[in-house]
Amino acid sequence: MKKIVFLTGAGMSVESGLSTFRGSGGMWDEYPVEKVASIEGYIENPSLVLEFYNKRRNELLTVQPNEGHRLIAALEKDYRVTVVTQNVDDLHERAGSTNVIHLHGELMKATSSREPNNLNYVRRLPADNLNIAIGDKAADGSQLRPYIVWFGEAVPMMSDAIDELRDADIFVIIGTSLNVYPAAGLLNYAPAGVPVYLIDPNDVNVSQHRWLNFIKKGASEGMKELVSLLE
Ligand code: APR
Repeated sequence: MKKIVFLTGAGMSVESGLSTFRGSGGMWDEYPVEKVASIEGYIENPSLVLEFYNKRRNELLTVQPNEGHRLIAALEKDYRVTVVTQNVDDLHERAGSTNVIHLHGELMKATSSREPNNLNYVRRLPADNLNIAIGDKAADGSQLRPYIVWFGEAVPMMSDAIDELRDADIFVIIGTSLNVYPAAGLLNYAPAGVPVYLIDPNDVNVSQHRWLNFIKKGASEGMKELVSLLE
């Protein structure tokens, strides 16, 4: 079976009702990114940061995977599929994708403030209490925090993502402005000769000099076109 690797970003979940980060109406207009999505912001005002992610977690419960997520999951019938996502939502998993690498963490999980990347401390929040409060403790006794990779923090899953791309036959990028590194640099690791598809309704500034099949559509329509191109 051929292998397809996807790299997805916030645009993947727009048709499910979640906002993007950049551009007008993006989430970072409403919430200053340096306050709610950086390690410095968390140290300065942990309760504001916990509240921001509590809200987003509750919002995630109200939305569903879209056709784009479902078409990616359905490709597992005919391909080996790896989804590398910058999204912290769980919509790929809920659509049925079984091999998802979250570069920027997972909204439905919590971890230790002292050792956020120690998997012994990462746990799924219980469905009956999805909020993290000041005073909630991780197993090591430190303050429980969202399992999110903030600006200023390492991206430990990046090496797994690079490994997945080494033997890819097809690489597909969906709904990311490719502004945030190291994720945006993943394209550099797509082996020479591997076809690269880019699905986005807007122009994306791709700095690497590489020929791309640009499908200028939203995630669902774009995935339908991709599926027909692959047939
Ligand atoms: N379908 C597909 N793509 C879409 C759609 C749609 N319906 N609507 C918008 N987009 C595209 C936009 O054109 C843009 O290129 O989605 C992209 C969203 O870009 P960003 O908001 O920058 O999101 P992303 O690239 O995922 O951000 C990367 O930055 O803030 C951090 O950690 C956060 O993971 C995030 C990272």
